[in-house]
Amino acid sequence: MRHKDFIEIHDYTAAEVLEIFALAAEMKAKPKKFRDALEGQTLAMIFEKSSTRTRVSFEAGMFQLGGHALFLSARDIQLGRGEPIYDTAKVLARYVDGIMARTFAHKTVTDLAEYASVPVINGLTDLSHPCQAMTDYFTAWEKFGGELKGRKLAYVGDGNNMAHSLMFGAPKVGMDIAVATPAGYGPDPGVIAQAQSDAQDAGTKLILTHSIEEAVEGADVVETDVWASMGQEDEAEKRRRDFEGWMIDARFMGLARKEAVFMHCLPAHRGEEVSADVIDGAQSVIYDEAENRLHIQKAILHALMKK
Ligand code: CP
Ligand code: NVA
Repeated sequence: MRHKDFIEIHDYTAAEVLEIFALAAEMKAKPKKFRDALEGQTLAMIFEKSSTRTRVSFEAGMFQLGGHALFLSARDIQLGRGEPIYDTAKVLARYVDGIMARTFAHKTVTDLAEYASVPVINGLTDLSHPCQAMTDYFTAWEKFGGELKGRKLAYVGDGNNMAHSLMFGAPKVGMDIAVATPAGYGPDPGVIAQAQSDAQDAGTKLILTHSIEEAVEGADVVETDVWASMGQEDEAEKRRRDFEGWMIDARFMGLARKEAVFMHCLPAHRGEEVSADVIDGAQSVIYDEAENRLHIQKAILHALMKK
């Protein structure tokens, strides 16, 4: 697999995505086999935003692969005081073997990738969250016996970074995706155009709707996310009003296939985007999903950094 960075699932072929799934499954089954894979290597992790899962799973993952991870809060490094990304990227690449970054502007990550000679991984931006979407499809791939072709994922809620990455991922795994959003909260037009053309090439469907019922009808995976993402705290009140009625509850789950699973990237707000009985119920796979961040990211680190 010849890639320097992991910025969007869209940049990877269907075969490459499946290769990462297979490696993640092997790492999950036989973690010890890979304990020296990245021996002596360091991953710098730049965070402009909070994180539990991304920070801990990347740090634990690097350790399990024989390497080391360095947590860099953007507030504490000179980047936060205005040092150019150009210099930050060039300098970090002299010390470390890879960079993972969680940023507000998507361009910060693409600039890091452009200027750093070492691999750069997108750990969430305002535009996308590809590590999470890869994990979600991997979790579905495990649940449905390693075959996703013809299945359907319903994403219900804000047309945000999660919606975008799930839209990029669906054609790669052969799944149809329905994205239901309230009016005015649809996905980014550029992402829609790209995902539409990827779906056409793959022979899968991208359905955009304002109807939760239409999206969840016959779905194998039902997924939602917070109404206000990191950086949108000021809009939280308005969004709570605009998203009234947009909670995934047992009635909506009842429209999906009987064996359907519920996913959420977490953190979640019970009683807002999802009811407690659904997220804590029998169809919910949220903790397997969270665990799989570790395995998928170890596979991505291995694919990009193994010498
Ligand atoms: N899902 C996810 O990325 O979680 P964190 O914000 O805790 O990293
Ligand atoms: N859409 C959410 C995802 C958090 C993992 C956010 O950006 O805050």
